[in-house]
Amino acid sequence: KKGNYDHFMQKEIYEQPESLRTTLRGRLIPGDESKVKGVLLGGLKAHLRTIRRSRRILFIGCGTSFHAALATRPLVEELSEVPVTMEIASDFLDRRAPIYREDTAVFVSQSGETADTLQALEYAKSHGALCVGITNTVGSAISRGTDCGVHINAGCEIGVASTKAYTSQIAVMTMLALAIGEDAISTRARREAIIDGLLDLPGVVKEVLKLDEKMKELAATLMEEQSLLLFGRGYNYATALEGALKVKELALMHSEGILAGEMKHGPLALVDETLPIIVIATRDSTCSKQQSVIQQLQARKGRLIVMCAKGDAAIMCPNGASYVIEVPHIQDCLQPIINIIPLQLLAYHLTVLRGFNVDQPRNLAKSVTTE
Ligand code: UD1
Ligand code: BG6
Repeated sequence: KKGNYDHFMQKEIYEQPESLRTTLRGRLIPGDESKVKGVLLGGLKAHLRTIRRSRRILFIGCGTSFHAALATRPLVEELSEVPVTMEIASDFLDRRAPIYREDTAVFVSQSGETADTLQALEYAKSHGALCVGITNTVGSAISRGTDCGVHINAGCEIGVASTKAYTSQIAVMTMLALAIGEDAISTRARREAIIDGLLDLPGVVKEVLKLDEKMKELAATLMEEQSLLLFGRGYNYATALEGALKVKELALMHSEGILAGEMKHGPLALVDETLPIIVIATRDSTCSKQQSVIQQLQARKGRLIVMCAKGDAAIMCPNGASYVIEVPHIQDCLQPIINIIPLQLLAYHLTVLRGFNVDQPRNLAKSVTTE
């Protein structure tokens, strides 16, 4: 039921403080005199040693689930010190890519039924890799077929375009990184700060949802456009890809997420006074590089929309921007959960304004069970 909402997607966007709370429930140990601060993933406990010792971790998925994995790759690499490679399930299968017993393959899927992801699972299993599932659907083929895993517990998602499952996937994979890294003394302070961030997360998500009216305003200025670019890097490369996917699949507007580090290798040629470009420049170790990206785009008179942390507008874009989206700040690795929400809202309003079907975009299905 949609309740007071016009569409399931809108309802699911607004549910995120609650869906994230459910995802995290019982899995965070806040820490006291008797217990160290940590995470508890019941389904993984028995396999953490094997995962830590693997030679490589592969993240495998399709669409939004692939983006969620991409958003957490930097943290998993940082805390595990195991190389993480990204695989789109269909491409992994097309290449019949090498995979070994010493590998851990993590399959990310909201439905747990996506054909390509499921086939990739069968393939990885037959090569002896440890197979881990991150799924929303208890009893699904991927949940049953993996050696172990974590249910994201985001609740049923009806809108074809994934929203609350995406943020819960990132939250779970962040906890996965914390669990893999839990025996390292050198990263303890870092891990504790992230756990504090996870405890704060539902409140911060509530805060960022207040941008709804502003995103509606922004959508009105963009509704006649043909194209929208999004530039991100680091943790928020995934945000750029996922924001662009939402805009293209729902609002039926061409949109492309671009790794900002690649700007000079092609995309810069597109920049002029008319093409709208969203630059994600929230606070993390890459933000001074994003500052210089903004300067270079401004030097070419780009039509910039800058997403930055609250209070950072004057530092991040001293020469102004056509629009600024100021979001609440949280730990760097959790920022993708916050940053996607205004973009979900933007895609939603663009779709309504352009008169397209929000919950069932043309030609798309919630769960793609054929190749
Ligand atoms: C489990 C219970 C939960 C209960 C909690 C109490 C289930 C589904 N979950 O949650 O109701 O409140 O214990 O401690 O009964 N798995 C896979 N692949 C996947 C996802 C999960 O193999 O893709 C496996 C896990 O390894 C685990 C089981 O399924 O053995 C349940 O996983 P999950 O629901 O995440 O475990 P808990 O959070 O411990
Ligand atoms: C479909 C959905 O294309 O499958 C997307 O429309 C989703 O929202 C993708 O991201 C992958 O699905 P799943 O269930 O494997 O996460």
